[in-house]
Amino acid sequence: MRAITFHGKGDMRCETVPDPGIEHLQDAIIQVTACAICGSDLHIFAGVMPGMKHGDIMGHETMGEVVELGSAVTNLKKGDGVVVPFTISCGQCFFCNRGFFSGCERSNPNKEAAEKLWGHSPAGLFGYTHVLGGYAGGQAEYLRVPYADVGPIKVPDGITDDQALFLSDIFPTGYMAAEFCDIKGGETIAIWGCGPVGQFAIRCALMLGAGRVIAIDTVPERLEMARAAGAETLDFLADDIPARIKDLTQGRGADACIDAVGTEADATATLDSIIDRVKVATMLGTDRPHVLRQAIQCCRNFGVVSIVGVYGGFLDKIPMGSAINRGLTFRMAQTPVQRYLASLMERIVKGEIDPSFIITHRATLEEGPEFYRTFRDNKDGCVKVVLKP
Ligand SMILES: NC(=O)c1ccc[n+]([C@@H]2O[C@H](COP(=O)([O-])OP(=O)(O)OC[C@H]3O[C@@H](n4cnc5c(N)ncnc54)[C@H](O)[C@@H]3O)[C@@H](O)[C@H]2O)c1
Ligand SMILES: [Zn+2]
Ligand SMILES: [Zn+2]
Repeated sequence: MRAITFHGKGDMRCETVPDPGIEHLQDAIIQVTACAICGSDLHIFAGVMPGMKHGDIMGHETMGEVVELGSAVTNLKKGDGVVVPFTISCGQCFFCNRGFFSGCERSNPNKEAAEKLWGHSPAGLFGYTHVLGGYAGGQAEYLRVPYADVGPIKVPDGITDDQALFLSDIFPTGYMAAEFCDIKGGETIAIWGCGPVGQFAIRCALMLGAGRVIAIDTVPERLEMARAAGAETLDFLADDIPARIKDLTQGRGADACIDAVGTEADATATLDSIIDRVKVATMLGTDRPHVLRQAIQCCRNFGVVSIVGVYGGFLDKIPMGSAINRGLTFRMAQTPVQRYLASLMERIVKGEIDPSFIITHRATLEEGPEFYRTFRDNKDGCVKVVLKP
């Protein structure tokens, strides 16, 4: 089959690799009908994610048609159209039982590597480093789906691929980011990052009853898309973000702050972000947590800091003094996607949200490597690329 594979920093290729097959009774094989490039893939593309090997198959936002089933799979049949969550979860362990699917203690065969880094291992993920299982990803013609009874959700009649695909990741992630904010009605939510995750967080915060969303980025098309959803926008290269948020909130700060940027924050606007970049470049640091710092400083007393932007290691100069003295709550996770699938699918079916708004570019798998660059560089108004094998 054809698949997009990793060959080092900045080097993705579309090449021919062996087809996947059933390896376990609970596996399914799907023929991919649509897949997408995620901001998380850009961390791999930038070479900042440890644990990748040459030839690893990329991708964790995938949907397709079931073409083969292990004998223990009971919920699916051949021909079903399904969306596959990026989190691989057994459905039966301590964590899966409690709904913490991205904490599954059985799905990462390379647990030891993750334990060394983080103390304990989370779930395995598709196409996301050998630290998280080394599973082949879904930017390919076919994908092997482990625990096929637990992950995939069937796409109901009348729902298009474009509407369903983002249930695999960015829609539940944006939703979780907003849910963490404990919105009761009328709150002001500040959101850093108007990439795909930020865009869903904006819409979900408003859907859950936020009175006002302040969205922060610098890319004109992304800010425009945020305004179209009803957000007020700030440009981090032009505005003094903490001062502006203070102005907009009677000096108090936002009720909740969402970090939808993560470890690759822009490193030009502020001194701390420049220092972050130097430290990472010289191996003195693992991450660039400028946005997290700013989100903490801009949050009101006893507010929530909701972190969905991904970080990898040990974060420097986090203002814990500000957080403890002012009673902030931190919420964060790789999204336990399975927990949200049914209810968010229902919102799509009812027409409460149409996730296809996010798509700006379409391409073939062969063109995928070129579109990694388009997406990374925000070229040509690119917000989200969908690839059709
Ligand atoms: N927690 C999860 O389960 C989960 C799931 C999917 C993605 N993610 C993470 O979410 C993050 C965003 O993903 P995406 O697909 O939207 O990526 P993206 O790279 O398209 O978007 C990031 C945006 O942040 C903006 N940005 C950079 N510096 C900023 C700053 N100082 N202030 C405000 N905005 C700034 C960029 O201009 C860009 O538009 C990534 O870190 C990704 O890994 C997490
Ligand atoms: Zn993703
Ligand atoms: Zn489990």
